[in-house]
Formats: sequence, C-alpha cells, structure tokens
Amino acid sequence: MSALKRFESTGWLRGNSAGCRPRFRERRSCWRLVLLGPPGVGKGTQSQLLKQRLGTCHLSTGDLFRAAYSRVGCDPTPAMKEAINYMRRGQLVPDSTVWNMVKERAECLRCRVGFLLDGFPRTLPQAEQLQTFLEDAMLPLSAVVEYKMPLDEIIKRLSGRRVCETCKAVFHVTSRPPKVEGVCNECGGRLYQRPDDCPASISVRMEAYRKSTSPLIAYYDDLGLLTSIDADGTADQVFARTMGALVPRARRVG
Ligand code: AP5
Repeated sequence: MSALKRFESTGWLRGNSAGCRPRFRERRSCWRLVLLGPPGVGKGTQSQLLKQRLGTCHLSTGDLFRAAYSRVGCDPTPAMKEAINYMRRGQLVPDSTVWNMVKERAECLRCRVGFLLDGFPRTLPQAEQLQTFLEDAMLPLSAVVEYKMPLDEIIKRLSGRRVCETCKAVFHVTSRPPKVEGVCNECGGRLYQRPDDCPASISVRMEAYRKSTSPLIAYYDDLGLLTSIDADGTADQVFARTMGALVPRARRVG
C-alpha cells in the first residue's frame, strides 16, 4: 500500500494528522473537491480513482461514522464521543456534532495535497459551515461533482457492494469483483457487506438524501462550482467523464 493510501485513513479517522506523509511537498496547486450524489451512485468508487490520479486524500464522513461505531482505527475525540452517544440512542447525529468532527480534522482540509470530501457536506447548514471555514482559511473549492443515475440501477449497485474492513476499498460482486472472493485486492483485508445496504435501510437513506442533501445541488450551482456527471456505465467510463469535466475547469481557474 502506498504512503498516500495509508495517510488518508489514519489522520482522518484518528482525528489529527498523525501518520500524514504527503508525497508532494512543494505543490503549487491542488484539488479541493466535494462529491455529491445519492447513496450507492459511486462516490466512494470514483474517490478511489480520483485520489490516485489527482494525488489528493479521500475524506469520507461515512467512514468516520463506521469507525466511531465499531471503534476500530479511530481515536475517541470529544466530537466522536458525542456522535457515538447519539448513534447508541438511535438518533441522527446533529449538524453541529458532524461539523465538530470535521473541525477536529481541520488539518486534513488544510493539507497541501488537497482533499476529496465524500459524504460531507450532507445538509445546507453543513455546507454553509464548510464554506465559511474554507473562505476564512483562503482554501477555495475547485469544484463540486454531482453524480446522477436512475434509482433501480443504484439499488443493484448497493445490494452487491462489498467493502474492505481495513483500507475501505469498495468492490461489487459482479461489476467490480475482487481477485479472490472475500479478500481485498489492495491490502488483503476481509471484505464485508455494510449493514445499511439492506432494502429497508436503502429506502430510508434515499429519502434522507432527497430531503436533506439534494438542496446542496442548487447551493453549489449558485456558487458556480457545480459539475453534473452521468454515473451510468463502468467505473472507468464515469471516471473519464469526471476528468473530462474537471480538467477544463482547472484551466479556467488557472
Ligand atoms: P456514506 O458512507 O457517506 O454513505 P452514502 O452517502 O450513502 O454513500 P455510499 O457509500 O452508500 O455510496 P457511494 O456513492 O460511495 O457508492 P460506492 O462507490 O460505494 O454514509 C453512511 C451513513 O453515515 C449515512 O447514511 C449517514 O447516516 C451517516 N453520515 C455520513 N456522513 C454524514 C454527514 N455528513 N452528516 C450526517 N450523517 C452522515 O458504490 C456502490 C456500489 O456500486 C459498489 O459496490 C461499487 O463497486 C459499485 N459501483 C460503483 N460505481 C460503479 C459503476 N460505474 N458500475 C458498476 N458498479 C459500480
């Protein structure tokens, strides 16, 4: 596993920049991206491809919540403890706690290699807090990529998903199978099925996306940051479309 891959899930999950070893010490420019889209559309998969091409770190709040819940690979920072208490009571974690969890990891947002935010922001208040932080820190977003796909295709993707419990790499039983069944190609870790990938949880997550997250599309469009990508097709095709949309944007931004 490369140093960059190790970095992405240590500093971010542990709540500080311990273990952070960016390879690109003297970078003049870097990518700061937010990935938007419904559960299962392929944000995590594209993040894996984008971080390899762009040299950025993949910061997933979903990974943070799963690490907090299982208490594997994450330090119990104050905001993390607060989030765990909400989750234990079966309550939604409020925006203020989510923002505190991200703020505890502010060094990851300031990192010179940039970032790929996946699963955050998820509500308008979260987006506004992030925007204020980035403006104050003079760290402008490069773009917000919105992935779109019909619901029936998304459900097929979610029901076949398998995730590495060690490095979080994402696979699919038919469209992106591991070389050895149940074993991660990247690190040899064990693959598992996420408990929220059952039909009952999928419909709750889709509704939460429609209600709370889809308004972010208009928010980022108004800021001139939105790029919409058709997420149908193979992961490589979607990746090529994403790069095709991002590269001219980088030239425009300078
Ligand atoms: P999170 O982990 O962020 O889940 P999500 O947003 O529901 O997104 P997913 O990870 O399910 O899907 P994805 O788009 O990354 O798809 P993937 O690439 O894996 O969050 C989990 C939970 O944590 C949330 O429900 C919420 O409760 C909580 N949470 C997180 N952040 C929060 C926040 N900020 N505030 C409050 N709560 C928060 O792909 C899916 C499958 O499809 C895979 O098997 C993959 O191999 C396959 N696939 C991908 N692309 C293709 C392709 N092109 N062709 C064929 N198959 C493909």
